[in-house]
Amino acid sequence: MTYSGRPPYIVCEDLFKIYKVADLEVVALRGLDLTVEQGEVVAIVGASGSGKSTLLNILAGYDTPSAGGVSVGGKDLLRLTAGEVEVYRREDVGFIWQQTSRNLFPYLSTLENVALPMMLTNVSTGQRRQRAEELVRLVGLGHRMDHTPERLSGGEQQRVAIAVALANHPPLLLADEPTGELDDATAAEVLDLFGTVNQEMGTTVMIVTHDPDIAYKVGRVVMIRDGKTSTEIRRRVTFQRMTGTAETEQPLEEFSLVDSSGRVQIPREYLEQSKIKGRARVSVEDGKVTLVPEAPTDE
Ligand SMILES: Nc1ncnc2c1ncn2[C@@H]1O[C@H](COP(=O)(O)OP(=O)(O)O)[C@@H](O)[C@H]1O
Ligand SMILES: [Mg+2]
Repeated sequence: MTYSGRPPYIVCEDLFKIYKVADLEVVALRGLDLTVEQGEVVAIVGASGSGKSTLLNILAGYDTPSAGGVSVGGKDLLRLTAGEVEVYRREDVGFIWQQTSRNLFPYLSTLENVALPMMLTNVSTGQRRQRAEELVRLVGLGHRMDHTPERLSGGEQQRVAIAVALANHPPLLLADEPTGELDDATAAEVLDLFGTVNQEMGTTVMIVTHDPDIAYKVGRVVMIRDGKTSTEIRRRVTFQRMTGTAETEQPLEEFSLVDSSGRVQIPREYLEQSKIKGRARVSVEDGKVTLVPEAPTDE
């Protein structure tokens, strides 16, 4: 799968996450496989409760899987000590939450919010200010340096949140429905900003989103269903970076994902059309796999 010869930047292998609530077990991820190349922009889509946030939280080092393997940038996240996880969260990932208010300190200005994550690194005060200013300009808010969040619009707040997430120049940016609270036009602008960041800084970006146009904006959209990656839409272009504007004339190709154990999710409408229920005969001929219902149905 790698074109560069390098191992993929993100590797999730057969990830399981089981939450225990009182006596109940909730399976949030059930055998999820996913690889992402360095510098790729990947959108994650899927119904509410399908496991998108769980996946992002694991990649961010906020949570650990119940089983399976996960590595980011060659680091096995399950083998990091508590101290190493802290450094990983601070230096290797930037995270943007859906709730604009959760991303920023209300009593700090734009510039102070962006400079804050640098406090724990050995960057001098002067350098901190300079880098924070650069980032604020990158997200298009050079004219809002001294504003506190309450004086910014929702879209502006998310722009600041992106600058905050980038403060320590992490190679990976994770955003969990960052445009969920924004109107469509503002949402499109914020999504485009992720493309700019990807192009300017080479950051690998993973965004959970409901934006219907997203497939035209990013090279790859992965659909999660019931805690597993199910289908993937790729644009038929060689570059993987975001282009900023939706290129709706680009052909899209949808693929079903086949995991390492050979499992694949068959779309529900195909099951209905083929009347396959519970069992099917599987055969391969001329390089094509065919599934036929166990016996003809009476309907
Ligand atoms: N902390 C938690 N405790 C118990 N159940 C949880 C917790 N977080 C998520 N879940 C459950 O795991 C499943 C996946 O949740 P989540 O990853 O938040 O989905 P999504 O982000 O796709 O909406 C859901 O059934 C959800 O209720
Ligand atoms: Mg979620």
